[in-house]
Amino acid sequence: MFRDVSSCNSYNYGDALYWDARYIQEAECFDWYQRYSALRPFVRKYIPTSSRILMVGCGNAVMSEDMVKDGYEEIMNIDISTVAIEMMGRKHAHIPQLKYMQMDVRDMSLFPDDSFGSVIDKGTLDSLMCGTDAPLSASQMLGEVSRLLKPGGVYMLITYGDPNVRMPHLSRPVYNWKIELYIIPRPGFEGKAMPSIESCSEPIPLSEKGLLPPDFVLEDPDCHYIYICKKMDEGPTIVALNP
Ligand SMILES: C[S@@+](CC[C@H](N)C(=O)[O-])C[C@H]1O[C@@H](n2cnc3c(N)ncnc32)[C@H](O)[C@@H]1O
Repeated sequence: MFRDVSSCNSYNYGDALYWDARYIQEAECFDWYQRYSALRPFVRKYIPTSSRILMVGCGNAVMSEDMVKDGYEEIMNIDISTVAIEMMGRKHAHIPQLKYMQMDVRDMSLFPDDSFGSVIDKGTLDSLMCGTDAPLSASQMLGEVSRLLKPGGVYMLITYGDPNVRMPHLSRPVYNWKIELYIIPRPGFEGKAMPSIESCSEPIPLSEKGLLPPDFVLEDPDCHYIYICKKMDEGPTIVALNP
């Protein structure tokens, strides 16, 4: 089963009340877009198992639990939905590698700067982009993500948003992120409209503006994108010497 926030339609994906109501109705765990098994090659390539990870907008996905089974040592899961956080906190109370906190990604001031080696976002920026004041929400969220990442750390964004709609938000110089992009097929579409996930192992070469090259043929407009945003080290401080 697979769902996509690919159009904002009539649902208010940016609203905490919407998500609370939804998680009360649908208590069964569910992963949006992709399961960990499909994302594993990318997660293992960019995120060391010892990294302290922040999973933003965890919902009731199985992803974090699967990552712990695969050796990941510490995952802090946050979500705006109290219902989801209480449900998942209870379910995983016996797994010390998993922690849960109710929090809005636009204000994560409880965490100090440089708290995490990696941040994973599967569908959460997408939800904010469907809410009111979407550009403001996106810049608040990404500012917080950038602040919380250690230099050298990675923000991994799994989204339906192509570079035309996501790069203007991700490529702001203030974040100082080096960005790589992968495109993967939707579950069930491997080998049909697109090659298999295994053959998507190379990043797509991007244009100077960070967009898909003009001759790039997108076989399936409903594919998923993985943006790897690496926080670059601070440049050297230049000190002006008095003559
Ligand atoms: C599309 S779902 C994805 C859930 C999960 N990451 C997955 O892959 O299945 C988006 C999640 O973002 C959460 N969310 C929406 N706005 C949020 C915000 N401002 N702060 C934190 N979480 C938020 C929702 O409660 C929901 O669980």
